[in-house]
Amino acid sequence: MTYIASANRYQTMQYRRCGNSGIKLPAISLGLWHNFGHVDVADNYRKILHLAFDSGITHFDLANNYGPPPGSAEENFGKILKEDFRDYRDELIISSKAGYTMWPGPYGDWGSKKYLVASLDQSLKRMGLDYVDIFYHHRPDPNTPLEETMAALDLIVRQGKALYVGISNYPAELASKAIKILKELGTPCLIHQPKYSMFERWVEGGLLNVLGNEGVGCIPFSPLAQGLLTDKYLHGIPEDSRAARPTGFLQKAHITDERLSQIRDLSSLAVQRGQSLAQMALAWILKDERVTSVLIGASRPEQLSDSLKAPDNIQFSAEELARIEEILAP
Ligand SMILES: NC(=O)c1ccc[n+]([C@@H]2O[C@H](COP(=O)([O-])OP(=O)(O)OC[C@H]3O[C@@H](n4cnc5c(N)ncnc54)[C@H](OP(=O)(O)O)[C@@H]3O)[C@@H](O)[C@H]2O)c1
Repeated sequence: MTYIASANRYQTMQYRRCGNSGIKLPAISLGLWHNFGHVDVADNYRKILHLAFDSGITHFDLANNYGPPPGSAEENFGKILKEDFRDYRDELIISSKAGYTMWPGPYGDWGSKKYLVASLDQSLKRMGLDYVDIFYHHRPDPNTPLEETMAALDLIVRQGKALYVGISNYPAELASKAIKILKELGTPCLIHQPKYSMFERWVEGGLLNVLGNEGVGCIPFSPLAQGLLTDKYLHGIPEDSRAARPTGFLQKAHITDERLSQIRDLSSLAVQRGQSLAQMALAWILKDERVTSVLIGASRPEQLSDSLKAPDNIQFSAEELARIEEILAP
């Protein structure tokens, strides 16, 4: 059946300006790292994408290596773009990245100009696009001059293959240098994509200040700590959960008694606020104005529906904030 986007799609989502740029992003953005590969069920991820766009999510985040197998999330997204979202391309902000291993040999990884330019060409082909809206360098490369990597991002924009560029996983000091180089090249850094959640707070030690001062946007990934910051692990490890899969970065060993006790206490606080734990965890990140959007994942539409309500209440009382600090204290 032909997909027609909901006429109400812009009525409830909040849009937040990305740093000092002209771009606004939805408070909630959707990432396709997991659940959109060839190993996943097409009917399910198609439903998730429809629900997302119908709810005002205009930003979809990909990378060359998302799948599995690597590249398959871009292929599947490209198919749905062509079949369902063809008429809506100008309403979408689509991002991709390169920085992790993608093909064999010395040119399929890290941060050389050779790798970044070739990888984006491959991503565009897989998605059937002329350009992406944002192209990121996915992780710092200690062995390539930062100037070369940033010059590659600048080149890609001048070639018309990306409208904006970003960096991901760069620590504060390196981010600061990258932002300066890009500014000098005339291609300002639009956004940084760091890992940030209640359980992973390294960005508070300086990166958020750098981004705030430089007028660069911030889109935290894994804001639900891959599902830990939800109620799903409170009564064991569900068979269909990310932690139950043999591969991946969330392992059963991460779900310790201490973690479960924190999750239980956070969940009680969320209930008092009239939110689910997932909603509170996202709201807690969105309370910081330097954050543009939270980049979530979802393995089914119901999870997305739950997370979408997070921006309804991003106010926290001093008591609530203190209680959260108390729960999170080591
Ligand atoms: N730049 C980078 O290096 C980098 C690295 C990682 C991710 N990312 C980006 O960030 C995106 C999000 O990462 P993520 O998937 O780890 O984010 P996340 O939002 O922290 O975790 C998503 C997972 O949490 C569970 N979940 C989500 N909402 C839920 C809800 N309301 N109730 C119960 N469970 C819920 C689901 O797990 P189950 O599958 O168990 O159901 C879902 O797959 C990625 O898709 C990617 O675009 C970037």
